[in-house]
Amino acid sequence: MKGLILSGGEGTRLRPITHTNAKQLVPIANKPILFYCIESIKNAGITDIGIVVGSTKDEIKAAVGNGSKWGIDITYIEQDAPRGLAHAVLISEDFLKDEQFVMYLGDNLIKGGINEFVDEFRRNGANSQILLARVANPQQFGVAELFKGRVIRLEEKPQKPKSDLALVGVYMFDQHIFKAVKNIAPSWRNELEITDAIQYLINHGYNIQSHIINGWWKDTGKLEDMLEANRIILDTLTTEIHGFVDDDSKIEFKVVIDNGAEVINSVIRGPAIIGGNTKIINSFVGPFTSVEHDVKIEDSEIEHSIVLEYSLIKGIKGRIVDSLIGKNVEVYASLLKPKAYRFMLGDSSKVGIL
Ligand code: DAU
Repeated sequence: MKGLILSGGEGTRLRPITHTNAKQLVPIANKPILFYCIESIKNAGITDIGIVVGSTKDEIKAAVGNGSKWGIDITYIEQDAPRGLAHAVLISEDFLKDEQFVMYLGDNLIKGGINEFVDEFRRNGANSQILLARVANPQQFGVAELFKGRVIRLEEKPQKPKSDLALVGVYMFDQHIFKAVKNIAPSWRNELEITDAIQYLINHGYNIQSHIINGWWKDTGKLEDMLEANRIILDTLTTEIHGFVDDDSKIEFKVVIDNGAEVINSVIRGPAIIGGNTKIINSFVGPFTSVEHDVKIEDSEIEHSIVLEYSLIKGIKGRIVDSLIGKNVEVYASLLKPKAYRFMLGDSSKVGIL
C-alpha cells in the first residue's frame, strides 16, 4: 500500500502567513502539520509516500527531504495549479500504479492516527473507504448522505447540506479511482472534486465503505482551527526542560523548553512549548502557546498563540492572545516621537489594537 499527501493549494484563508509559507508547514506545537500526516501514514505501516506539491514546492522539499529522517521514501509529484483533489490523484497515477493507497490532505490533523482505518481497508476488500465526522458547519466541507448506513450521495460544500457528516481529509482507494477521476468534469469552482470521483464509484456499483470517526479531527485552513489544533496537541505534552530557567522564573503545568532556550524572570504556564535558542525575559507565556526557535519575548505577556521563528515581541503593555505571529516579525513598544502607532504590515494582515 502507498501513501499520497496533498500539499499543493494556495492557503488563501491563512494569509498573510501563506503569502510566504506553505500552509502545510505552519507548525502545531512547533512541528509542521505536514509532519503529523507523514508520521500517521508511516505508523500505519506505509513507507512509500508521494507528496503532491504546487507553488510552494521548494519550501516543502527543503523541510521534508527524501524521507530518510523517518526511514521512508518520498516521491514529489508536481501539480501545475490547484486544479482539485481528484486532479492530484490523476497526476499521481504513475506513482501509485495499481496499488491500494491512502490519500491524506496535508492540512488535516487526526488525533490518534489512522492505523485502525488503514488496517480495515486492507482487510475488507472495499474499492474505497472514506471517513466522516459530525460537524456544526457542514457547508464548509464535502457532505455525505447515508441510507441504511451506506453512503448514497456526496456533495462538495453544499448550501443546504443533507446531513452534518463531513468528509474527513483521509481517503482510501484502489486503482478504480483512476477511471473515476478521468470521467468527471470540473465543478463550479473549476476543480476536479474528489467527492465527484467517489460519487462516480458509488453510481457505478463499486464497494464504498464509510466510518464515522469519534476522535478529534481538524482541517487547519483557518486561524481559529490552527489555534484549536495547537491546543489539542499541546495538551498531550509532558514536561521536559532542556533549556535554562533562572531561579526567578516559574514553570507551571506541562511545559517543554528546548535546548538553548532561556527563561529569565518569567512565568511559563503550560501547556506551552518554547523552541531552541528562544529567550523569554521578564514576561508571561500563558496556556496553549507555542513559541518556535530563535524568538525573543521581553517585557510582554502572551497566551493562546503561535509565534514563528526569529520574531521579536518587546514591551507590549496589553496581553497578546489568539494570535498567529509569522517569521521575523517585530512587535514592540515604540519610543519614537510623536507617540504613535507605526506599522509595516504585509497584504491581508490583521491587527487588533486596544
Ligand atoms: O478537510 C476536509 C475537506 O477537504 C473535505 O471535507 C472536502 O470534501 C475536500 O474537498 C477538502 O476541502 P477543502 O476546500 O478544505 O480543500 P483544500 O482546497 O483546502 O485542499 C486540501 C489540501 O489539498 C490542502 O493541503 C491543499 C491540497 N491541494 C488542494 C487542491 C485543490 C492540492 O494539493 N492540490 C489541489 O489542487
